[in-house]
Amino acid sequence: MIPLSLAEIAAIVGGQPYDVPDPSVTVTGPVVKDSRDVRQGSLFAAFAGERVDGHDYARRAFDAGAVAVLASRPVGVPAIVVDDVVGALGALARTVVERLGTTVVALTGSAGKTSTKDLIAQLLERKAPTVWTPGSLNNEIGLPLTALSATAETRHLVLEMGAKGIGHIHYLADLTPPRIGLVLNVGSAHIGEFGSREAIAQAKGELVEVLPEDGAAILNADDPLVRAMASRTKARVLLFGEAADADVRGENVRLTDDGRPAFALHTPTGCSDVTLRLYGEHHVSNALAAAAVAHELGMSVTEIAEALSGAGTLSRWRMEVTERPDGVTVVNDAYNANPESMKAALRALAAMGKARRAGGGRTWAVLGQMAELGDASLAEHDAVGRIAVRLNVSKLVAVGGQEASWLQLGAYNEGSWGEESVHVSDAEAAVDLLRSELRPGDVVLVKASRSVGLERVALALLETTEGEVAVR
Ligand SMILES: Nc1ncnc2c1ncn2[C@@H]1O[C@H](COP(=O)(O)OP(=O)(O)OP(=O)(O)O)[C@@H](O)[C@H]1O
Ligand SMILES: [Mg+2]
Repeated sequence: MIPLSLAEIAAIVGGQPYDVPDPSVTVTGPVVKDSRDVRQGSLFAAFAGERVDGHDYARRAFDAGAVAVLASRPVGVPAIVVDDVVGALGALARTVVERLGTTVVALTGSAGKTSTKDLIAQLLERKAPTVWTPGSLNNEIGLPLTALSATAETRHLVLEMGAKGIGHIHYLADLTPPRIGLVLNVGSAHIGEFGSREAIAQAKGELVEVLPEDGAAILNADDPLVRAMASRTKARVLLFGEAADADVRGENVRLTDDGRPAFALHTPTGCSDVTLRLYGEHHVSNALAAAAVAHELGMSVTEIAEALSGAGTLSRWRMEVTERPDGVTVVNDAYNANPESMKAALRALAAMGKARRAGGGRTWAVLGQMAELGDASLAEHDAVGRIAVRLNVSKLVAVGGQEASWLQLGAYNEGSWGEESVHVSDAEAAVDLLRSELRPGDVVLVKASRSVGLERVALALLETTEGEVAVR
């Protein structure tokens, strides 16, 4: 953070200093919400959560080096007291970003925000100091905390924005006004909450409405609901995708034998070949989006292609491929799931399996519930089960309750499958089954919505092996 005195912070957030002997003492950062993350010079933001109340940790934070606490009541150590800590944190972020003059790149979409944000970060880092959202901290607390971690050296701030409802992106974008706004896609994630895809598009499109005239709206040419957002912005529009009229375009998209996407990248500065280190063709769209941002910030097509081909996963459990010493490959994509990403992950699994089939290797899809699908839930689970059969996945293990049974039934009804598809009640049962069945050359995909916690299966499978596992 840029150094700010407690007096300045109190003025910015409209707060009241309590137990502050010296208002000129400065906060140098970071701003944290977990007392265990406090370092010398920190500001500790105390939130009253459902289970823990940050205010109870004020003393501990102070003893660990925090200069003061941003709190909603006096806490017995130096504090700036406000009515609304979330709002105060946002106000502080807004002022700091304005003073820094950093270029803000904001992105939203139904799926792929974190993956794309990590790619953008790896591209822009090559050019100038860049700060980006860690993991998926994309809400009204995570966003300002990330923005506040920028320093005077920071040139780019890459921020993931989640849209919880109408008006949410407006709120976030107002805290950290972006010059570049990227919308990835409008899928069916959270459709239960929003009601329709159009309503989701309405919420996500708020991002392009806030862009300035000299800014850039980067839109997915292949997604009609995203493309249509061009009419909602005063900024210049840059399209990415596989469509012929996309400014940043992928051509000749294919999967390599091990399931990595390769394509020819076209930008207005030329063309260059890319082979991603990431797995699954859904990353093509993410990579093109990242390329469009990098192009907008002045990178040449060769620089972009080289950086994309070298970029890895920065956030965990997203198509994380680990080869066990015994030759079993585990693909941990258990971070989250929706119908689109299930299909993409299954296609990647099928591609990875192709190369191994000659050696007797099989493909296993260990899948669980896709949450928040509302009325579409039965049909979507059924469809994923059927796709697994059509892609010739060797074995489907559906894990969990009713939704898992729909997955399994879809697979059963689609093919002549009998014991190729099984339904087990929980992660432990899936692990038991896999431990006894897996053999060298097999590839296992593990994927479900976050709430299922299916990464336990992947982690258990990796624990069983002796020696080092190599993450590719
Ligand atoms: N372009 C895409 N289209 C469809 N699915 C994708 C795409 N990119 C990533 N995914 C899949 O979606 C899941 C979530 O990916 P990621 O974490 O990048 O998305 P996110 O938008 O940040 O999610 P969240 O809303 O949970 O923050 C992963 O399982 C990944 O495989
Ligand atoms: Mg995310």
